[in-house]
Amino acid sequence: MPLYSINGPRLNQTLEELGHLGESPDGMDRVAYSPEDILGRNYSINLMKDAGLETRIDTAGNIIGRVSGLDDSLPAIAIGSHTDTVPKGGKYDGALGVMAAIEVMRTLRERGHHTRHPVEVINFTNEEGTRFHRWLVGSRSMSGMLEQEDLDAVDDNGYGLGPCLYDIGGDMSRIGESARKPGELAAYFELHIEQGPYLHNSGTPIGVVTGITGRAVFEVEIEGKANHAGTTPMSARRDALVSASKLVLDIQKMAAEQEICRVSTVGSIKAAPNAVNVIPGSASIGLEFRDTDMKALEAAEHQLRLLTEKTMTNDEVKVNVERHRFTESVPITKEMQALVAEAAENCGFEWEPQASGAGHDAQAIANIAPVAMIFVPSVDGISHSKEEYSTPEDCANGTQVLLELLLLADDRF
Ligand code: GLV
Ligand code: MN
Ligand code: MN
Repeated sequence: MPLYSINGPRLNQTLEELGHLGESPDGMDRVAYSPEDILGRNYSINLMKDAGLETRIDTAGNIIGRVSGLDDSLPAIAIGSHTDTVPKGGKYDGALGVMAAIEVMRTLRERGHHTRHPVEVINFTNEEGTRFHRWLVGSRSMSGMLEQEDLDAVDDNGYGLGPCLYDIGGDMSRIGESARKPGELAAYFELHIEQGPYLHNSGTPIGVVTGITGRAVFEVEIEGKANHAGTTPMSARRDALVSASKLVLDIQKMAAEQEICRVSTVGSIKAAPNAVNVIPGSASIGLEFRDTDMKALEAAEHQLRLLTEKTMTNDEVKVNVERHRFTESVPITKEMQALVAEAAENCGFEWEPQASGAGHDAQAIANIAPVAMIFVPSVDGISHSKEEYSTPEDCANGTQVLLELLLLADDRF
């Protein structure tokens, strides 16, 4: 039996209220640094204040709500996630982890329970990485992992990150100050929806996360020759969009048929001049490979380069491959997995081990602190979509396990 019960209806009400900020008929749009993102951030700040947390925004734009411990010489235990979304995303990805962390602190405050460790609720900024094509920006900054290429990144209109950071209360000129030292946090715990189908299919309420996938991201630009769509014979064309399309299919086969890596996705495509009566003179695709085995990602890159060379030769186009930094896969230690399993069992829930196919702030924070993650089912395994849904009961169950995990860690760390 858990020591205290969280308030499930209150948790789900906050998820619903947050889910109205940036809501549109096509899904959630709280892309990092947008006015809607700022509404969501402010909503979380107000809830943190109501929960008795002292809030601040670090120079990277992360929102941190802290409560003292009985022994403030101990390192803080952090809990949280993110409230930014992908374009046309869902109401639960990230939002659940932040709302759950706040609900945990509200419960402890109502019960007059003081933890030994200070506790920090963190709403990491820009987990999704949509606008500047760089993800986990807040958590990588906190764990000292931001690279110069992250700081120099520009959006599709050529604007840099600096003014955006300023808009959310960060400060590009002092962004390095957001880095925390190893040992400063005793642990970081993140509750998240699974975003895949396994828990839903097995009917298991809790997933104990065993590790987080690695990811390799590329942009491929193809230069052919723009020409008149009505007058140019088919045999004389160098159509960049046709070459890009062949690559899309070949890249899909790399995981689906050749099993070079676990998953391969071309998620974005552009053609120019993008006019119906002009043969596309240039095209670009954005793609990613994911696998927990980093060697598989290297093999995928090798294959991608072979494919692009073949495209250049066969289609007489120029191809440029831009490689973004690989995100390392992160295993979660057996000890931390056992702690999550114990917390689930104390709450009376069945659990099963789950590898994460999605990226999470926890994988960056693992650079400076032990981390653990709890998953709850995603109905039909749908995520990054307006159809994303996790039942109120599952959200409450996960939050209960998060509270139990915090109390176990507070006792033992
Ligand atoms: C983050 O949401 C990801 O793309 O895995
Ligand atoms: Mn996401
Ligand atoms: Mn997420």
